[in-house]
Amino acid sequence: MAQVEIGMPQRRVEGELKVTGQARYAAEYPVEGLLYGFVINATIAKGRIAKIDTTAALAVPGVIEVFTHENRPNLAWFDRSYKDDGDSPGSPLRPLYDDKILYDAQPIALLVAETFEIARYAVGLVDIEYEREDFNTDFVSALPDRFFPKKKRAFYTPFKDRGDAPNAYKDLPVQVSNDYHMVSEHHNPMELNATTVVWEGDGKITVYDKNQGSQNVQKYLASVFGLSKDKVRVLNPFVGGAFGSGLRPEYQVYMATLAATTLKHSVRVTLTRQQMFSHVHRPEAVQTVSLASDETGRMNAMMVEATTSTSRYENFMETVVNWGGTAYACENAKFDYNIAALDIHTPGDMRAPGAATGMNIFEMAMDELAYAANVDPLELRIKNYSEQDAMNNTPYTSKALMSAYKEGAARFGWEKRSQAPRSMKDGTELVGWGMATGMWEAMMAVATVRARIGANGQLEVASATSDIGTGTYTIMTQIAAETLGLPMDRVTAKLGDSDLPLSPIEGGSWTAATVGAAVQLACRALGEKLFKAASKVPGNPFGDAKFDQIEFIDGQARVRGKATGISLQDLLHASGEPWLEAEETAKPSMITNMTKSRHTHSAVFVEVKVDEELGVVRVTRVVNAVAGGRIINPLTARSQILGGVVMGMGMALHEDTLMDHRLGRIMNHSLAEYHVPAHADVFDIDVIFVDEPDPEVSPLGVKGLGEIGIVGVAAAISNAIFHATGKRVRSFPITIDKILSIDTTDAL
Ligand code: MOS
Repeated sequence: MAQVEIGMPQRRVEGELKVTGQARYAAEYPVEGLLYGFVINATIAKGRIAKIDTTAALAVPGVIEVFTHENRPNLAWFDRSYKDDGDSPGSPLRPLYDDKILYDAQPIALLVAETFEIARYAVGLVDIEYEREDFNTDFVSALPDRFFPKKKRAFYTPFKDRGDAPNAYKDLPVQVSNDYHMVSEHHNPMELNATTVVWEGDGKITVYDKNQGSQNVQKYLASVFGLSKDKVRVLNPFVGGAFGSGLRPEYQVYMATLAATTLKHSVRVTLTRQQMFSHVHRPEAVQTVSLASDETGRMNAMMVEATTSTSRYENFMETVVNWGGTAYACENAKFDYNIAALDIHTPGDMRAPGAATGMNIFEMAMDELAYAANVDPLELRIKNYSEQDAMNNTPYTSKALMSAYKEGAARFGWEKRSQAPRSMKDGTELVGWGMATGMWEAMMAVATVRARIGANGQLEVASATSDIGTGTYTIMTQIAAETLGLPMDRVTAKLGDSDLPLSPIEGGSWTAATVGAAVQLACRALGEKLFKAASKVPGNPFGDAKFDQIEFIDGQARVRGKATGISLQDLLHASGEPWLEAEETAKPSMITNMTKSRHTHSAVFVEVKVDEELGVVRVTRVVNAVAGGRIINPLTARSQILGGVVMGMGMALHEDTLMDHRLGRIMNHSLAEYHVPAHADVFDIDVIFVDEPDPEVSPLGVKGLGEIGIVGVAAAISNAIFHATGKRVRSFPITIDKILSIDTTDAL
């Protein structure tokens, strides 16, 4: 029996269920007598509903009810009842609460019918009249109204100025100062937002919902609908991608629960692809970055100012301006961050929120500095490298970014690059090589895991966490298998159920560090219980040995160094119990030194080929070298980075939420018009994990990989396009028109 170890490649344990269609998503659970809800969204950007007449819709055979603000049952009144673990400061959206419209496509009614098709047809018969008010959805024209955030959000890291950047900047010989623009992006995971609420008959509901935290949604529903938690069970065992779109309870779960609890019937609400553009998205951003160095490229002044969009009702903030100041040694630094309110849905987290915006833009500015100082872009990063967290002056638990630069550059062949723009060609195409640094935080939260071994010898590890496609099932299985010396198939991981032990929303790349640590703790505690049971085995096989002398290997427990041991099943049998279990909680306070900084780093190298006549850019090669602490499973870890790189290609070249500001409406709300990379856009992607032992960052030495893969990719692509063409495009996405146009330097 091969011993499973952390660090071994393991295939996804749920892979077979997924490819054979046995892994059900929220809208796929078969339920008898199910009713179907279809959400009606507002068609004005601001104002109130003057009239909503449902008579004609209700006359359609098969239509059951139309829920509006006029007939909804009494629900929670206070803002705080609608708060959740992923929220922003402000007043959360309360669907159907009153007649007010806060943004275009706000959900304002739910039509429930016997079939989805009837529901979808009948919503067109609901007659709605509005009173319109003036609104603004145009970020650029809202910039003068920006304001300082007054409240802190959990993930928002404040920054610290140092030295006197404006004065230092003036005196330095090499200066670059530019505005950059990042458009808004909308979440488009494969799985649409959907909820199936099963009415259990005794006032209980079982809620299959697409989200990143079953207990967060459970808490929200209990609070909004005034239910006790034992009446609400939320499940999300399989999630078809989320990337941050499922951190907050989304309106379909509210709608489905409203209908099910009122009608006392099972109800399903699925959003359409168009409706996926009516909620959470990456905020729009403008950023001004001013960098100055001596003639050799040594930076001595940086000024970073950013404004991102938010809604009128909530202040969404992210960590945008800190990254360069944390990454690079630079004596004088000044930062400023604002948010500007618009009549839109509140923006939210989207893969590497803040870093994908701020670090990418900073790394474009670094490339500009490299050219202004005539220094190789990689050399510039190395010249300004900071061994410690330069923002906080604290040491890192680990920072193997220098290895990532070296190994990434070697794999890419960076030394063959010629510095001058337009100097490399392949036939008629211009070739560009660009690079960037990536950064993300290495976080840990609090989670509990229960480990249980049953009479059949099967070990189960369970926690309410989610697997949003990242590989959580697989690493939970792997860590448990290593800890108790079992093969992978003797371990079952259970997750995605609010009934299971406490776990936070799956986000911030903290799940491997948090839930992974709790799996190990719970399995060790269970191992100790099994060890104690040995005293009941005739002629105690462990003799006088203490627990720390015991090893778990080949399905057995044995005294280290001894050839034979006793199977876990026999130990369980000796205990006289039908099963043995242990529950343990992992928390950040378990880590020795919380005063140190904790980050993941990467070095991204990109080759583009540009057909200048057509304006077409192909990203022909990417090498992403990641310093991510200990890698639990190189196979699923690599997949995370691959996905991040592809999403970064979308940010660089494709994704762009386009609004008609006369209507305040998103116009490209389909995958035909909102472009994400397709297979034909993706060529070679090479992932390197550099050696980065780190016993301090988390109990397993793990840093998390869900987000680092996207950071720096768009910058490296943009920098490669400059190298290929000599054109500096300071606004994403870099579309064909920008490549073709002569003047591409206007960020806004
Ligand atoms: Mo992530 S944006 O924390 O799901």
